[in-house]
Amino acid sequence: MPNARGLAGFNPRHLLSIADLNRLDIEMLLELGETYLDLSVQKDSKNSVLAGKTLINLFFENSTRTEKSFELAGRRLGADVINMAIAQSSVAKGETLLDTAATLNAMNPDLLVIRHGASGAPALLAQKVSCAVINAGDGMHEHPTQALLDALCLRQAVQEDGGQLDGLRIAICGDILHSRVARSNVQLLNILGCEVRLIGPPTLLPADADRWGVDVFHDMKTGLEGCDAIMMLRLQLERMGGTFIPSKREYFHFYGLDRAKLAYAKPDALVMHPGPMNRGVEISSDIADDPDISLITKQVEAGVAMRMAILHALSLRGDRA
Ligand code: NCD
Repeated sequence: MPNARGLAGFNPRHLLSIADLNRLDIEMLLELGETYLDLSVQKDSKNSVLAGKTLINLFFENSTRTEKSFELAGRRLGADVINMAIAQSSVAKGETLLDTAATLNAMNPDLLVIRHGASGAPALLAQKVSCAVINAGDGMHEHPTQALLDALCLRQAVQEDGGQLDGLRIAICGDILHSRVARSNVQLLNILGCEVRLIGPPTLLPADADRWGVDVFHDMKTGLEGCDAIMMLRLQLERMGGTFIPSKREYFHFYGLDRAKLAYAKPDALVMHPGPMNRGVEISSDIADDPDISLITKQVEAGVAMRMAILHALSLRGDRA
């Protein structure tokens, strides 16, 4: 079982944004995540770090990977895990987020994971409950645990070739405007010393992207030049209130990742996608399913390990309080 020594000095109470973490916190989480990733290949990967603790998963938006990986992470650490099915809860009867928070708080959970369509909902909840709150995606704002698992996954892949994250050139491509994954990843990769590029059509790039500490490109050819890794994003149609692209076919033609566009990047460039993927819209199946190029399945694997590390680290703070 990993011990807590490696977390000495880890002080964040919640994980609402990457801004809650400094470089040292991030390095500690990545180290612990790596330990859990190594342990996950062992037959009995369960332990009791969170024995006697309660984790509540509160997902107001759909999720496959994130919700299931938090559930699995909690169970593997021995926690009691409750998944709130929002559609069958009092929320469906009109209860407000704050009333739900007060109700859940009265049950004395130790960790609360929330995904919500409104930016800032996890931060609001964190003010109302006495346990650690983890943002599992809030509107278009942030998705810090996704950024951390992406960093863990990429770090593992480059370390296998004797490399490191610091100094890598990474492109984040596609629907940046609606992406909480992009917002968290830009911050995290910048802290870790990567050179970050954003590539997308002007309609799908935030107006203030040039102030994010990135280089902005509108075409894949120049944007992907010299890139070590490419993070593709889903076209988030559910967040689009109007027409942002002429058609999915045209979008794929200009921004979908296929072999021809991948050739603009470094020869051994790695491809990532947080999922769910829209095949043939932002990425071709040919690339997504090529294990020599695509880290997509490994990202899911890293997701469980990283979330184990996050739950472990935040639960210690509760123990100290
Ligand atoms: C992302 C999300 O929900 O923001 N997915 C995820 O957590 N794996 C990205 C997306 O929905 O496109």
